[in-house]
Amino acid sequence: MKTKILDGNEVAKFLKKNISEQISSLKNKNLIPGLAAILVGSNPASRVYIKNKEKVFLKHNCFTKTFKFSEDSSEKEIIDFIERLNSDDTYHGILVQLPLPKKFNTKKILHSVSPYKDVDGFHPLNSGLLIEGNPNFIPCTPKGILELLNYYNIKTTSKNIVIIGRSNIVGKPMFSLLSQNFEFGNATVTLCHSKTKNISSFTKKADILIVAVGVPNMVDAKMLKKDVDIIDVGINRVNDNTKKGYHLVGDVNFNTVMGIANSITPVPGGVGPLTITMLLHNTVKACRLFCTRGSIG
Ligand code: GUN
Repeated sequence: MKTKILDGNEVAKFLKKNISEQISSLKNKNLIPGLAAILVGSNPASRVYIKNKEKVFLKHNCFTKTFKFSEDSSEKEIIDFIERLNSDDTYHGILVQLPLPKKFNTKKILHSVSPYKDVDGFHPLNSGLLIEGNPNFIPCTPKGILELLNYYNIKTTSKNIVIIGRSNIVGKPMFSLLSQNFEFGNATVTLCHSKTKNISSFTKKADILIVAVGVPNMVDAKMLKKDVDIIDVGINRVNDNTKKGYHLVGDVNFNTVMGIANSITPVPGGVGPLTITMLLHNTVKACRLFCTRGSIG
């Protein structure tokens, strides 16, 4: 059996057609979706992600500006700045790139983003609405994974889905979405984490396995049931002798699962492109909501 590669770029291209139409129709009303990105410190991966986001937004005729803060900035400085962005009508969405340097209280900073502009879906109002089953902004990576499963017709109803990783960015919202009573949910979902005993006993029962831990090659073929569909969310840098000095690998040991898994997302080119596409989707949605709501400044 050949393992199918789930191509995130192909899905992103498909979804962007619809998003582009929405952007054009907003343009007819003289509205350009705008995203303010906040980058604190000098995490090299975060800088790459922000650059990639800027490229996609500009390519789709949206406005984006990145505001850079040094690690020496104070929490108050950042929060005051976010509060100004909250009432600035140029920006329909605000994103704080994570992780923040350790000295910052991440929750406090994320809570200062207006829930109306919270295109990451990390504000407690939006995470609460998601758990309630009435989501407003769905976090970008979980939303991208649902779109990928839909595109490749991988059904979730009554499946055993195992998620490894309990982050607020992926694991927890993914758990909530997949267990809910809607078309892309209705699964029996198990959330494994660093304190889970005998993780293989869970992963071996998975019809769909979602791995989001940030540990290179953590999952290999021995942990899997045959024909599992695998979503690998990990994007890990492994140092090498190339000019760049590193290459990217996922949380799943890709080569070992070939011929065993039914399908898998590659790294890079799997979930990554979908996260950015969903950020675009959420920013366009924030701009549409702004149209009906008017300024909240
Ligand atoms: N860092 C890793 N993933 C994400 C994400 O989806 N949003 C933000 N803001 N930071 C991240």
